[in-house]
Amino acid sequence: MKFNVKTDDLHNVKVELLIIPLPSLKYAGKKFLELDKLCNHFLSKIAREKQIDGNIGANILLHSIDYVSARSILLVGTSKNGNCDLSDFKKTMQPCINQISKLKKKSVAIEIHQGNPKRDEFEQKCNFIFKQFETATYSYKKQSNSTLTILTNNSSNHSLVKIAKQGLALANGIRLTKNLANKPANLCTPTILANEAKKLSGNYKSINVSVMNEVQMKKLKMNTLLSVAQGTTQPAKLIVLKYSNSKKNKRPIVLVGKGVTFDSGGISLKPSSAMDEMKYDMAGAATVLGVFSALGSMDLDVNVIGIIPATENMPAGNATKPGDVITSMSGKTVEILNTDAEGRLILCDSITYARKFKPEVVIDIATLTGACVVALGSHATGLMSNNEKLAESLLKSGINSGDRAWQLPLWSEYGSQLNTNFADLANVGGRTAGAITAGYFLSQFAEGLKWAHLDIAGTAWNSGANKLATGRPVALLLDFLINSKFK
Ligand code: BES
Ligand code: MN
Ligand code: ZN
Repeated sequence: MKFNVKTDDLHNVKVELLIIPLPSLKYAGKKFLELDKLCNHFLSKIAREKQIDGNIGANILLHSIDYVSARSILLVGTSKNGNCDLSDFKKTMQPCINQISKLKKKSVAIEIHQGNPKRDEFEQKCNFIFKQFETATYSYKKQSNSTLTILTNNSSNHSLVKIAKQGLALANGIRLTKNLANKPANLCTPTILANEAKKLSGNYKSINVSVMNEVQMKKLKMNTLLSVAQGTTQPAKLIVLKYSNSKKNKRPIVLVGKGVTFDSGGISLKPSSAMDEMKYDMAGAATVLGVFSALGSMDLDVNVIGIIPATENMPAGNATKPGDVITSMSGKTVEILNTDAEGRLILCDSITYARKFKPEVVIDIATLTGACVVALGSHATGLMSNNEKLAESLLKSGINSGDRAWQLPLWSEYGSQLNTNFADLANVGGRTAGAITAGYFLSQFAEGLKWAHLDIAGTAWNSGANKLATGRPVALLLDFLINSKFK
């Protein structure tokens, strides 16, 4: 996706679709009035007739208008005096987004009355448009480039351009996450994921990438991670990304993304219905890569490490069996009662590995449990944390970005569900509170760290007829990194 900021007169903008938000005609902006004059007052006439002006939700699509370069114009009603808050702005934009996706328009310009909004509000509006434009123009099969042009009265406004660039970085990050997550498992192996990470380090000089193979992981005693990779012929990878943009030796924020490129369940084989959706079991990894691509084109005063344990989970003659006991990198032993609870096994070693970076915080992102889908559906990501302040700032970022999370408790009472006579921990905790016992399992490897866990099993993709990745929670995490509010 690309974007421009322009100050052109409205009749001069060469795009497929020109969107003009219209307050009550008496508050209409100078540029609209000029355009209207050029069209013999056709626009104001039709706006009045159809009651568009000053009416949020009202809109009319016009084609092939004389003297106008844009192929179509969408007049949309906005608040009476043209000043709208975020919620009015979203309502104003909804018909635009619907038209863009319906008409499959790839080059769109939108006039934004900047007025004098608060910075935060303008940033949120901007992020909202870019995100929605990305969604409206996305197709996995037909990848194409779309361009959003923002028309303002003052393109030299430095902060506007900077904010719009941030919106674009967010949209492009989301797009990368979607594209990777949507790929079938045969086209998105651990090795391919590692190559995608290397591409990022080629594209952005603030990003460095290193990739560990199984021999190197074995040396570090990442045995629970390797136990998942035991049954597949695809070599597992541990991908480590570094965004070192803060000169101040700031401790890094570590993002750990679950990268199971296909989860068959292993010996505890999943039922076949919807098993194809387990190609999405690397959506956490895709999220980390999307966040890094956005970071690469932004200049944030943070240091971020990404850790992606990448493997398939497959059954085989040599695969891990229920009842096997494995010593994790931390030294804690784990009884694997269900080989389908593999996410926590690759994440626990990754969290242990994260300690080497002396992190400020560790956040893992994982399509971890079906139970989380049952609990929260597709609207909220499940959030668990051992630090209330961190949890609060993640929740706040979710609200800010419209990419919400909801917190679940990690009370020690839940821990007893993981007790076993054969190891320090069992990898499953029975039928009840499955999202929490999975989180609790991870918390046992995060002692002494400020840690949070995002269970995105319900939010990372849509099932059914609309089956596609959502790009969540890239927006939540970027908001968090931009604000680093956890202190
Ligand atoms: N990747 C799945 C979780 C999942 C399932 C996400 C369905 C989205 C939709 C995970 O590895 C898994 O299989 N979890 C098991 C855990 C159980 C064996 C304790 C689950 O949720 O059934
Ligand atoms: Mn599984
Ligand atoms: Zn899984």
